[in-house]
Amino acid sequence: MNPINVGLLGIGTVGGGTYTVLKRNQEEIVRRVGRNIVIRIIADRDTEKARRLADRDTTVTADAFEVVSRPDIDIVIELIGGQTIAKELILQAIAHGKHVITANKALLASHGSEIFAAAQQKGVIVAFEAAVAGGIPIIKALREGLAANRIEWIAGIINGTSNFILSEMREKGLAFDTVLALAQKLGYAEADPTYDIEGIDAAHKITIMAAIAFGIPVSFNKVYIEGITQLSNDDIRYAEELGYRIKLLGITKRVAKGIELRVHPTLIPIKRLIANVEGVMNAVVVKGDAVGPTLYYGAGAGAEPTASSVIADLVDVARLLTADPEHRVPYLAFLPELLSNIPIVPMEEVETAYYLRLQVMDQPGVLADITRILADSDISINAMVQKEHAEEEDKVNIIMLTHTTIEKNIIAALDKIEKLPTMAGKIVRIRLEELNK
Ligand code: NDP
Ligand code: HSE
Repeated sequence: MNPINVGLLGIGTVGGGTYTVLKRNQEEIVRRVGRNIVIRIIADRDTEKARRLADRDTTVTADAFEVVSRPDIDIVIELIGGQTIAKELILQAIAHGKHVITANKALLASHGSEIFAAAQQKGVIVAFEAAVAGGIPIIKALREGLAANRIEWIAGIINGTSNFILSEMREKGLAFDTVLALAQKLGYAEADPTYDIEGIDAAHKITIMAAIAFGIPVSFNKVYIEGITQLSNDDIRYAEELGYRIKLLGITKRVAKGIELRVHPTLIPIKRLIANVEGVMNAVVVKGDAVGPTLYYGAGAGAEPTASSVIADLVDVARLLTADPEHRVPYLAFLPELLSNIPIVPMEEVETAYYLRLQVMDQPGVLADITRILADSDISINAMVQKEHAEEEDKVNIIMLTHTTIEKNIIAALDKIEKLPTMAGKIVRIRLEELNK
């Protein structure tokens, strides 16, 4: 059989990993696909770098548009990233009848609907396993492995860089900026690392998973996003003392009012497996009505783990090339004409528990004022600790864990508490999920 011809756009961290792994494991891959898969042409603006990595018979060009229109190319792999040229390249590849593989979650979370519609019309495949949770085959699990289930919720550590930062800070006491620089050096971080630390990258990924889990359009503009830059070592330590670990979680849940879609630092009981996922590793818990909770774990970023997902897509596309378009797995798992318009729940209506750290003056009656305001707002306290203060200080930290409440109630209550004259600083509020139902 003729080989399958591939054009690779971008030979940076993931593109380089893809080229290396495909070459190294070619024999195994041919045994799986029954055909050879050959990267015929590579486009990168740094042609010298591409030339150094590529075999002599692979063409190298600085012009990515040359690749997407070449008649001999069957599959285009987009690993340039970003939402400008990458979008144009993918749309042009589709227009030329090429199947597309991409790791570009930023692009899919914002423009996925347009891209999938174009691909559907042209009868080509757009595959994106590497876009979510690096090397973990979570897209395949959600779209195919769990297809019998009504998905109830997904909670995941889906940004390797921020998990790496939190782990290194907690375990080695390293400074935030030092660990971020290391994550960049190791190829984990996005071109703009604020995407990682401000929760935007995780929001891209939870948007894609929510679409696949619930059969809704990709809705990035409706995600509530909070990153890890405001977290303090004190809160990480106090949470540990209470038996919880703080992780940046992407959460999506089917609730009576619609779909919750959010990313924020979250306390999780240390006894949960997911609370013990450290470093660049990612983990996603998916709760299905039939199967119950399932956990997927693996490297969330880096050259070869991500290449593992890109090449899995290559193998899938190569196998599907002979199936007619109507009988392929739908991009977002559900048939496009049967997508649902369940609303995304506004953040102020979301129900969750909270960790609160209140810095107060060490005076009689302070606690009574606080608990009265919480009780008036129908917020029930689950646990409370008052930390001893240093001798020279007259302020203390009170740590509280609440039972589940509605976001708007806690905002209103904390607003009142912050106005008490005995308060000595801004209240720290971190959401808490037991992840056990
Ligand atoms: P890199 O920056 O390492 O690689 C991108 C490559 O594309 C670089 O070699 C870059 O060249 C090249 N490039 C940029 N613009 C152009 C252009 N106009 N024409 C041709 N080449 C161009 O990024 P990554 O490999 O880290 O990421 C690629 C994609 O994979 C992104 O969408 C990212 O979000 C996603 N991803 C990354 C993961 C990771 O662990 N790194 C994991 C999962 C997904 P130059 O170096 O000169 O800019
Ligand atoms: N920057 C991303 C991360 C890469 O750290 O998880 C993988 O998507």
